[in-house]
Amino acid sequence: MDVLIIGGTQFVGRHLVEASLDAGHNVTLFNRGRTDPGIYPHVEEIHGDRDGGLEVLRGRKWDVVYDPSGYVPRIVRQSAEFLRDAVDRYIFVSTISVYSDINDLSETGPLLELANPASEDVLSDYGALKVVCEQIVAEIYGERTLNARLGFVVGQYDPITRLPYLLQRFDKGGEKIAATPDQPIQFIHARDAADWMLGAVEQKLSGDFNLTGTPFPMHELLDTIVEVTGKPTTITYVGDAFLKEQGIGGVDGLTYWVPKESQAAMNVSVQRALDTGLTFTPLKTTIEQTLDWVRSGIYKPDMFSEVLKQFVLTQEREDELLALWHQRQS
Ligand SMILES: NC(=O)c1ccc[n+]([C@@H]2O[C@H](COP(=O)([O-])OP(=O)(O)OC[C@H]3O[C@@H](n4cnc5c(N)ncnc54)[C@H](OP(=O)(O)O)[C@@H]3O)[C@@H](O)[C@H]2O)c1
Repeated sequence: MDVLIIGGTQFVGRHLVEASLDAGHNVTLFNRGRTDPGIYPHVEEIHGDRDGGLEVLRGRKWDVVYDPSGYVPRIVRQSAEFLRDAVDRYIFVSTISVYSDINDLSETGPLLELANPASEDVLSDYGALKVVCEQIVAEIYGERTLNARLGFVVGQYDPITRLPYLLQRFDKGGEKIAATPDQPIQFIHARDAADWMLGAVEQKLSGDFNLTGTPFPMHELLDTIVEVTGKPTTITYVGDAFLKEQGIGGVDGLTYWVPKESQAAMNVSVQRALDTGLTFTPLKTTIEQTLDWVRSGIYKPDMFSEVLKQFVLTQEREDELLALWHQRQS
C-alpha cells in the first residue's frame, strides 16, 4: 500500500510511520523538515508547509493519507480538498477532547461547538477546532474517511510532560506524592493506536472511533513504574482535597490526576475500536519502552511546551508538598 503521512516525525506520526513500514507499506512523509528531519533515512520525505504549500504533492497518488498534524479547519480543508482525488482514504487523527459532556464519552456523545468560527487558537479551542476539522474531512470524503479520536497517548517519542515526566520523577526513587490509589486512568500506546488505524484502512472503516485504553487504577500504573525503574520508592497518597488546596493543576500538574468529581472523563467508551481490532500493549511493556527512551536522554525537560511548563510539578514543589503533608499528619 502507498501511504502518505502529513507530519510523521514527532510522536503519533512516528508510530504511524513505523507501523506502516513494519506492515510492508511504502511511506511518503510530507512536512516542513523542521522536526527531526532525516530520522527515517530510507523513507521518502517531501518538504512543504501544509498551509499553502501542498503543490509539491501534485501528480502523486496514495492509497491512504494519515493526518496527525491537523488542528486548524482552514488548513485541514486545504489538504482534504487537495488530496480528494489523490488518495483513496483520509484518516484524520482527532481527540476525545471533541466531547462536550464528560458523562457521555461514546462516539455518539455531544460535541463541542466553536464559539468563534474564525478562531485558530489551538490552545484555547483545541477540541472545538478538531470537531470542525473532522466535519470538513467527513464532508469531502464521506465513507472514505474516519476520525480516530485519541485519548491520552503514551509510548516512546512522547513530547508531552505526562508519562515521560512521571517516569523521570519516579526514576530518582525516594518518596513520591500521588493523589488516590483507586483513581481510574485511561491511555493508549501510540503504536496500538497506529496499528488500529492501519487495520481500519484495510477494513475500509468509516465514521468516528474513540481510541484509548480501558480504565485501570492509578496504583497499578505507579506500582508498575516502581517495579520497572527498580528504584527504592515510597508512594504517599495525599488525596484530592490537599492537592486542590495547594493549587495543583490536574493531569498536567500531577500526571494524570483527575479529582473524584471529574473522573467520568476517564470512562471513554472504546467498544467500537475493540470490535474492529484494537489491541493493547501490556502496561509493563509500555513503561519499559518509554523508560528506555527517557533514559536514553532524548527526552529532556527543555522539551516541555511553554504551556505545560507552568503546571509541571518540580522536585522542589514535590518536596515542599510532602513536608507539609507529613507535618499535618504528625
Ligand atoms: N499526545 C496526546 O496525548 C494526544 C491526545 C489526543 C490526540 N492527540 C492527537 O495526536 C496528534 C499528535 O500528533 P503528533 O505531533 O504526534 O504528530 P506527528 O505527525 O508525529 O508530528 C507532527 C508533524 O507535523 C509536521 N508539521 C507541523 N506543522 C506543519 C505544517 N505547517 N506543514 C507541514 N507539516 C507540519 C511536523 O514536522 P515539521 O515541524 O518538520 O513540519 C511533524 O512531522 C495530534 O493530532 C493530536 O491532536 C494527541
